[in-house]
Amino acid sequence: MSVDDCFGLTGLLLLRLLLRLRLSHRDLRNATASNTTRHDMPADLRDGGSDDPTNTNGASSFSSSSSSPDWSTYLGTSKPRLPAPIRSLFPLELIPGMISLLAGKPNADTYPFASINLELKPGPDGTTPAPLRIEGKDLEDALQYGATAGLPRLNKWLVDFQSHVHRRHVDAQKWQVTLGVGSQDLLSKSFEMLLDPDVDSILVEEPAYAGILPCLHACRANVVSIASDDQGVDPQALEEALANFPKDKPKPKCLYTTPTGANPSGTTASEQRKRDILAICRRHSVLILEDDPYYFLDFSKLGEDPVTRYRPLSYFALDGESASPGLVLRYDSFSKVLSGGMRLGYLTAHPTFVKGIDLITGVANLSTSGAAQCIALAILEHWGVEGFLQHADRVATFYRDRRDRFEAAARRVLGRGPAVAEWITPTAGMFLWLKLKLPEDEQDSFSIISNEAKDAGVLAVPGGAFMPMRGKESCYVRTSFSLVPENDFEEGFERLRRVIEGVWKRKGLSVPA
Ligand SMILES: Cc1ncc(COP(=O)(O)O)c(C=O)c1O
Repeated sequence: MSVDDCFGLTGLLLLRLLLRLRLSHRDLRNATASNTTRHDMPADLRDGGSDDPTNTNGASSFSSSSSSPDWSTYLGTSKPRLPAPIRSLFPLELIPGMISLLAGKPNADTYPFASINLELKPGPDGTTPAPLRIEGKDLEDALQYGATAGLPRLNKWLVDFQSHVHRRHVDAQKWQVTLGVGSQDLLSKSFEMLLDPDVDSILVEEPAYAGILPCLHACRANVVSIASDDQGVDPQALEEALANFPKDKPKPKCLYTTPTGANPSGTTASEQRKRDILAICRRHSVLILEDDPYYFLDFSKLGEDPVTRYRPLSYFALDGESASPGLVLRYDSFSKVLSGGMRLGYLTAHPTFVKGIDLITGVANLSTSGAAQCIALAILEHWGVEGFLQHADRVATFYRDRRDRFEAAARRVLGRGPAVAEWITPTAGMFLWLKLKLPEDEQDSFSIISNEAKDAGVLAVPGGAFMPMRGKESCYVRTSFSLVPENDFEEGFERLRRVIEGVWKRKGLSVPA
């Protein structure tokens, strides 16, 4: 019997579910059109319907706990989602005594892998740790089709980790974790989950991580750009955008922001700034998509004990202080601290949103790579939370030292009189966001960077790539100090300087003091 034969068995269940979903979808649209506020949705519309019990998080449907707002009203309604038919049945195999004839999973005996052996680099004391070996059942589970929300043990490790780092009690009714193929995967799925094409609006900090902009374009979302200052999203700009939002459109559903070492601007929001933004978003019922891949690359308290030292409170942590938390969806990434190529990220959010993402994963890519997950898990279990935090601070120290030398070179070259650029010193991350001093009638860096700088032998990203509103000019340029060889720092800046001086020279001018 193949797995597909089971479709008959699940078909009836799915049909019933489909009818329920269709009804919810139609009713929800009617409710939205008549300007119903999100939290006023009638109870019978709250069933968004994930029956995917392969999620190890515990909650089994979209319904929120009774005391919390109805988060399902934030879900887009244009694409009603059905659970993956086969995946939904996997957990039944765990019932003691069950004989499972359903699984069309390959037989692990046929896999060629005997074990995975991991050798880590020497630790700070110079000693090489004993190799980590993944074998037996752990290997078999990792190589098999796995749970949508990630390997249960890794998922649990991350729940405990998030609880520790963000000071949130473990409570599967309030928040859960799911794994993704990097945070990019989870962000892209979130936009798909939340935003109805040509209907919904999203507030996006300007400048924003360029990687989300094509996703929002593909979702046909109405993107509303929010100005930033040296701490990221400007509260006044946010307040004004919401207060003046056209009355004939549904209010924006969410705000996208990168609070630590933002890509590209390098800015970091203080705790007070996060409190201010959170208060505005709560007042306007706007979700916060907290994209925080540089959280562990914060330079501010390095040198203190990595385990016990203060770490900035995230939006997710601050949301936990509320009587009805759930407003924040937090995106973390292993890319900057373990490896970008492992493609592992995790979302921490209210079960409604975790289930919503899992519904998409369950049909889009089934799960995140088990091989990548088991490698991460082996390292994380070997380190424990303490070891991870120590490692993270070593990585952050590496980037801080590079930032220091990179910025010193920028000061020597770009800053020598008359200065050709200015910037804010980044206190986290890997980017120096340069505001080029350009003639008034040539304020866009795009052609200068794409053509002249390239011809001069220096590459950087023109600021326009990070503008949420497509086509908006920018005199900024993003430079990164993560990878460039240190002995190229000065020469890179010298080339950039000559290009900027050349722009002025073309006009018969010299760079003003
Ligand atoms: C702000 C931001 N968000 C998300 C990502 C994507 O990260 P991941 O590798 O986890 O997909 C990046 C990658 O550079 C980033 O800078």
